[in-house]
Amino acid sequence: MLLINSGMEISMNFHILTLFPEMVMQGLNTSIIGRAIEKGLLSINAINIRDFTTDKHKKVDDYTYGGGAGMLMQAQPVYDAYSHVVNHMKTRQRPRVIYVTPQGKVFNQSMAKEFAMEQDLIILCGHYEGIDERVLEEIVTDYVSIGDYVLTGGELPAMVMVDSISRMVPGVLNNKESGETESHSGYLLEYPQYSRPEEWNGKKVPDVLLSGHHKKIEEWRLEKSIQRTKERRPDLYEKYMDEQRKLEELNPKKKKRKRKKTLDFQENA
Ligand code: ADE
Repeated sequence: MLLINSGMEISMNFHILTLFPEMVMQGLNTSIIGRAIEKGLLSINAINIRDFTTDKHKKVDDYTYGGGAGMLMQAQPVYDAYSHVVNHMKTRQRPRVIYVTPQGKVFNQSMAKEFAMEQDLIILCGHYEGIDERVLEEIVTDYVSIGDYVLTGGELPAMVMVDSISRMVPGVLNNKESGETESHSGYLLEYPQYSRPEEWNGKKVPDVLLSGHHKKIEEWRLEKSIQRTKERRPDLYEKYMDEQRKLEELNPKKKKRKRKKTLDFQENA
């Protein structure tokens, strides 16, 4: 078992059941997530499923009944690895167990926020042709995919999800990095941003951003967010427009306030 934490009080514990614990740990022990682990806000515990096989050759997979290509991960080592984690948890509550699979519900920001409220989260990574259905029925609470394409294993999806869930855990991001104002906090994508110099490669920073006029900057950013969402993510734009229509129905007279509300909605969603 590979475990990283600072030894302090932890606010969220990830337990990743995998055949490749080093891959997961190397990918997650750097940058913002590494800093959160050091600060004691997170722990990441990668459990090698192979350590739990009762097979004398350390085998964890076998052929599928009924024929068909490829091998399947067997129920026994997966179940024993899961039981080991559950038996070592402080809480007696049954934890949520996410099986990362292309057959799952597609992961999004609101799921990241929801999972970030758990104290312990188990993520199960499959390999080969998948995992024996009987153990999935026994332990899995959520089937989650990171998109409609197929990867060779669940480790990359698990890492994607841990990163995204972690940044929703209080204290992981500092004020400057705050997750709430970035793309996907509401239905709108984030507006374009610029840093020094004022002119680069013949391109100037928009005048309004240099004006110091906060209300105008807010309006400009909202307009750009709407425009960008419409162009790049028409599906999200439709959701945003629906939300706007509902707000207007609730408050038909307050057209002016609606605009401001939109930005609040984006920031606090
Ligand atoms: N395993 C293989 N492909 C996957 C995907 N797209 N999402 C989650 N787990 C997977």
